Amino acid sequence: MQNALYTNDNLYIMHGMDSESVDLIYLDPPFNSKRTYSAPIGSKAAGASFNDMWSWSDVDELSLHELVGFTGLIDYIQSIGNIHGKAMMAYTTYMAQRIIEMHRILKFTGSLYLHCDPTASHYLKPMLDSIFGKSNFINEIVWHYQTGGASKRWFSRKHDVILLYAKGKKYVFDYKNTKVARTEKAMQRAQNPKGARISADNTSKVAMDVWTDLQALNPMSAERTGYPTQKPLALLERIIKVSSNEGDIVFDPFCGCATTCVAAQQLGRSWIGIDIEKQAADLLVERLSDDAGMFKDFIHFTNPPKRTDIEAIEPSSPSVKKALYKAQNGKCIGCNNDYLEKDMEIDHIIPKSRGGGNYLENYQLLCGNCNRTKGNRPMEFLRMRIENRRTLMEKYITFGDE
Ligand SMILES: C[S@@+](CC[C@H](N)C(=O)[O-])C[C@H]1O[C@@H](n2cnc3c(N)ncnc32)[C@H](O)[C@@H]1O
Ligand SMILES: [Zn+2]
Repeated sequence: MQNALYTNDNLYIMHGMDSESVDLIYLDPPFNSKRTYSAPIGSKAAGASFNDMWSWSDVDELSLHELVGFTGLIDYIQSIGNIHGKAMMAYTTYMAQRIIEMHRILKFTGSLYLHCDPTASHYLKPMLDSIFGKSNFINEIVWHYQTGGASKRWFSRKHDVILLYAKGKKYVFDYKNTKVARTEKAMQRAQNPKGARISADNTSKVAMDVWTDLQALNPMSAERTGYPTQKPLALLERIIKVSSNEGDIVFDPFCGCATTCVAAQQLGRSWIGIDIEKQAADLLVERLSDDAGMFKDFIHFTNPPKRTDIEAIEPSSPSVKKALYKAQNGKCIGCNNDYLEKDMEIDHIIPKSRGGGNYLENYQLLCGNCNRTKGNRPMEFLRMRIENRRTLMEKYITFGDE
């Protein structure tokens, strides 16, 4: 597998990735989708300004219908709007659209680590339960660090939450690689012949779900690239060693300055990283050449890849139109009116620029009028189409206007 870095929205790139094609996913999504260098979840600004940062415009309406297939997901997202407000609802929807694609791309032996914090972790967990299945929840890891200031108004917030889910029952978990050093105190106790429970050379133990031995990067760290939300390599090394094997493919859809890619490379794994920011790509190229000495050992694309696991079929093929006409009961997806097959036109549901390809699943039939409306005024058409689908699905998604 060729290591790959993509600069684009990860939703579009993932649309073009094959199902069951990666072994491990780590994601550390942003708090604010629009400004990379502003508050990540967990920063001081996070809670206070959450409402200004997420709106319905962050949600890709083109792939909204994918949420319907997951038990309770739409009702759940709806309820977040009532409890917390529309900003959290938009954020959860944005995340759900992407986690659904990650779940599809993950192999059956794979796991996903979602790095977040108490700002949204309690909203993200039921969403993961719905997409992965609640029985595939493995751990809620608490990563405690000491960096940053103290507060006089609350207990200082010094932990992140990492939610770990597996795709299936036979997931990779090399517990021997979870070993962490025993504390000095424990080792002293071990020296005492009376109370000794462990031998003196037994200096490590299996890690628990609260991680206190990995420090966040401080301003003086040699590892620092200048990327404000950079995570320590040691954190990624633990995750990669425990939940993947050598030669496996590690995928980070929000890769920032590519900590995951560097750790994967150093541990003999292949990697795929995506970040929407051009600046992240520049930093990554620089970092990889410095840290990992592998400047030429990856490809860098902005366009989505083409899926190789489903059969491509040209829209002009007569069988396509026939199959779609039957599936849609002769009705136009846009206006829901009946048409003759010859009066219908084939449309790509997800455009090619967003990773949609020439597959049957990505085609729909529109009447000439709807197809032209879409061509000229896409948003207007899309609203109509989505409205139409809502009724058809008998589930009314009242996300409302922002
Ligand atoms: C919290 S940072 C990740 C930092 C990373 N773990 C590291 O160690 O450098 C989140 C990243 O997600 C990127 N991002 C935000 N929205 C994205 C999207 N839709 N697709 C791909 N990347 C996105 C941001 O540009 C930002 O670099
Ligand atoms: Zn129509």
